Amino acid sequence: MASLFHISSLTKRFGSVIALSKVSLDIKQGEIIALIGSSGSGKTTLLKLLNAQHKAEEGIIKLSGQSFDSLSQSQLRKARSKIAFIPQDLGLVKNLKVFQNIFLGKVGHVGTLRMLWRFILPPKKEIQQVHQLLERTGIPEKLYFETSQLSGGQQQRVAVARSLYQGAHTILADEPISAVDPARARSLIKLLIAISKENNLTLIMSIHNIKLAQEFFPRLIGLKNGVILFDGSAVDESKLAELYQLSEDQLNE
Ligand SMILES: Nc1ncnc2c1ncn2[C@@H]1O[C@H](COP(=O)(O)OP(=O)(O)OP(=O)(O)O)[C@@H](O)[C@H]1O
Ligand SMILES: [Mg+2]
Repeated sequence: MASLFHISSLTKRFGSVIALSKVSLDIKQGEIIALIGSSGSGKTTLLKLLNAQHKAEEGIIKLSGQSFDSLSQSQLRKARSKIAFIPQDLGLVKNLKVFQNIFLGKVGHVGTLRMLWRFILPPKKEIQQVHQLLERTGIPEKLYFETSQLSGGQQQRVAVARSLYQGAHTILADEPISAVDPARARSLIKLLIAISKENNLTLIMSIHNIKLAQEFFPRLIGLKNGVILFDGSAVDESKLAELYQLSEDQLNE
């Protein structure tokens, strides 16, 4: 099967910092992947390159065989609209209603003005669809609640429903579990994986908890100082130790 994402020798710098160095990867549609590595290892940078929020200085990144660089602005916008990004803070507007936050998943296709109309006069068909998605993520009764009134775990479920509403083929989740308790982290991982499998979505999630990564994810990619240290289904202890070992420089900081 051809790759959904093909990355070859990708390097991303921020001034003098090399956030990613010559990273090469192939990711197929439907893969469930955990990105692991200590703070500053390049996980968020890689996720943001995958949805073209960042641009690399060197290397190639292709989506379904097409290089991001070769796309026009509108093609790139369209490509990006199919890649859902769940940031660490979930990216929800807290004082909007749950259904409005989910509608925002399509702001790229619908346009701002039409979106405002939808907020005020939500089309019945769209509301039905949002309700169904909330049923799938387990909180249908929250449709008309203000988002700030939901618990952290419920807000995560809104973010997952928004990714589905967006019609994405890929979910990039940047540590959406770091602020929640272990039981909730576990249930969010299970939900994201179940939903990804049901819909043949590709899921790439950065995660600090190695135990959860090993328990749930069939593919683990370990980053250290912007370099891929391992990529596979099982990781041995020595590689894990190396992954989290601080470099001499970091120890001296
Ligand atoms: N916008 C930016 N401007 C400057 N430097 C940046 C920027 N984003 C990331 N970096 C640097 O790039 C490196 C990789 O950062 P990144 O955010 O990808 O790490 P991470 O693995 O996601 O870390 P964490 O686990 O703490 O979220 C770090 O050294 C960071 O300081
Ligand atoms: Mg990060």
